[in-house]
Amino acid sequence: LGIILMGPPGAGKGTQAPQIKAKYGLCHLATGDMLRAAIAAGTPLGKKVKSVISAGELVSDDLIVGLIQERLGSDPECEHGFIFDGFPRTIPQAVMLDELLAKEEKSLDHVISFEIDDGILLDRITGRLIHRASGRSYHVVHRPPKVPGKDDVTGEPLYKRPDDNEEACKNRLKVYHSQTAPLKEFYSKKGLLRLINAYQEADSVFADVQAVLNAQH
Ligand code: AP5
Ligand code: ZN
Repeated sequence: LGIILMGPPGAGKGTQAPQIKAKYGLCHLATGDMLRAAIAAGTPLGKKVKSVISAGELVSDDLIVGLIQERLGSDPECEHGFIFDGFPRTIPQAVMLDELLAKEEKSLDHVISFEIDDGILLDRITGRLIHRASGRSYHVVHRPPKVPGKDDVTGEPLYKRPDDNEEACKNRLKVYHSQTAPLKEFYSKKGLLRLINAYQEADSVFADVQAVLNAQH
């Protein structure tokens, strides 16, 4: 099973992915999480991308596809399929992904687009808290951790992303509409696009995702 989760910043991709992963036994490859891990570890890659991410701009296509290629080929969890979260984000990335999947003889089955208007996203993003090691996300109001400021599973401290401020967020939305939203037409033409109402509470969104994955297309 091969799935792409797409949608604007704050739409709920990172919230849904761990549940999908657990239920369907797939690997979860989130390019944003990989880049943030590189920044946290202070690697050359991290140093290179830090300011780009903080500004809400996109990292280069070649660099991103390289990261995906490396993980897809080496992560044993990817054996039964994958969830891409936040990738591809441009048409060139999608074209390179097609080539990569053909080479690896892997199939792409569903491109799930989380549909939601920009207005609500600023609230979701500015209230978000993240557990760095796992990528688990919380919201101070909509999805509070059991103990304030602590991860439910490990009890480790939660942090706020440097690009989760109003200015960077507005730029991320602009970049999404200009560079990423055109992928909907790209995948619609291939018969792979599935639209989900991302306004709903997280459990209802997950129910709709399962309906898509369980249906015959
Ligand atoms: P990335 O990490 O992918 O960020 P993003 O796309 O901006 O998406 P978010 O992580 O902000 O949103 P999400 O949909 O995961 O929301 P979440 O579930 O956490 O990318 C970051 C940066 O890395 C990019 O800007 C770029 O610089 C670079 N990058 C990454 N991939 C790249 C690529 N392919 N090419 C080039 N550059 C790349 O939810 C948000 C909040 O809402 C949380 O607090 C959550 O608890 C809450 N919430 C979730 N669902 C609900 C719900 N149903 N109801 C109420 N609240 C909810
Ligand atoms: Zn995310």
